[in-house]
Amino acid sequence: MLQSNEIFTLSIESSCDDTSAAVLCNDKVLSNIVANQLIHEQYGGVVPELASRAHQQNIVAVVDTALSKSGVTKGQLAAISFTNGPGLLGSLLVGSSFAKTMSMGLNIPLLEVNHMQAHVAANYIDAKPNFPFLCLTVSGGHTQIVLVKAPLEMEVIGQTIDDAVGEAFDKAAKILNLPYPGGPLVDKLAKQGDSEKYTFPLPALNQYNFTFSGLKTAFLYFISKNSKDSPDFIKSELNNICASYQKHLVHYLMKVFLKAAHDLGINELAISGGVSANSELRKEMLALQTKGYSIYIPKFEYCTDNAAMIGIVGYYKYLKGDFSSNSVVPFTRSI
Ligand code: KG4
Ligand code: ZN
Repeated sequence: MLQSNEIFTLSIESSCDDTSAAVLCNDKVLSNIVANQLIHEQYGGVVPELASRAHQQNIVAVVDTALSKSGVTKGQLAAISFTNGPGLLGSLLVGSSFAKTMSMGLNIPLLEVNHMQAHVAANYIDAKPNFPFLCLTVSGGHTQIVLVKAPLEMEVIGQTIDDAVGEAFDKAAKILNLPYPGGPLVDKLAKQGDSEKYTFPLPALNQYNFTFSGLKTAFLYFISKNSKDSPDFIKSELNNICASYQKHLVHYLMKVFLKAAHDLGINELAISGGVSANSELRKEMLALQTKGYSIYIPKFEYCTDNAAMIGIVGYYKYLKGDFSSNSVVPFTRSI
């Protein structure tokens, strides 16, 4: 039986190399379908043109599956939300064109969603963080500390000045001859390694900002020097290298994040983005619970790119009547 206070929305995410659609009833996720694009693995990174073509191939089936799995019909939808950026332009255009067409065809409102805001909002799925809270957003393209004052009121108080931490994982994995994306594999191999075996330089602290490019270079020199001395170095030490490097990245993230929390006097802390799936980072965060912090961590499926997080932001925008015009244009960089 339909309740009048049930708002059904469809959401679409296509900013990079995952095609995703979700159906929500208010802020509850009814379905969340993600089609990964395996084509990029052979190139060692995302190839933008191939990503947009794969989105085109996947999007109809992904949206259809999300709707059928939710049990909601197109006629019941109250609005459609979609990722408007930041991301790859060709990829964003596929999702945004699809959402605009559906919104016109069904004559329902369109809601544009910022991908970075959505990563933070993944913490509202099945949880109710207290405001204000601080969120460490760690993904393949971004590393940010965000002060969240209300569901959609967010201020970036620190960020990377060069690479993102996801790139620091992926580039190190590439140096170790691991396939793309390397982050999850480094995490897996690290579980069998000794995280104290090798040490890496800690970047100079710069308020709440991060830098990863020096670390990446230090890692490259470390591997080439040791491989010269012992040609089997990577093979024989892979687990220990992954464990030590991962521990170091997480230690650095936590040091800056906790400095911000301490300075601002905030003990409500969250993480989000693809790297928040990392087991070491999740462990370090959970350990803070014994020190008086309240910790929020999205479920694994809401860490990496997904449409459910887009739907959550869409739902809050819907409540405010913050609808988008059909002439809205995707953007590629953070704004
Ligand atoms: O949020 P996301 O899916 O896409 C972007 O918006 O960038 O993040 C992808 C990033 C990749 O760099 C990937 O290697 C990393 O998240 N990642 C991980 C783990 N799972 C995904 N990094 C470390 N450990 C993981 N378990
Ligand atoms: Zn993302």
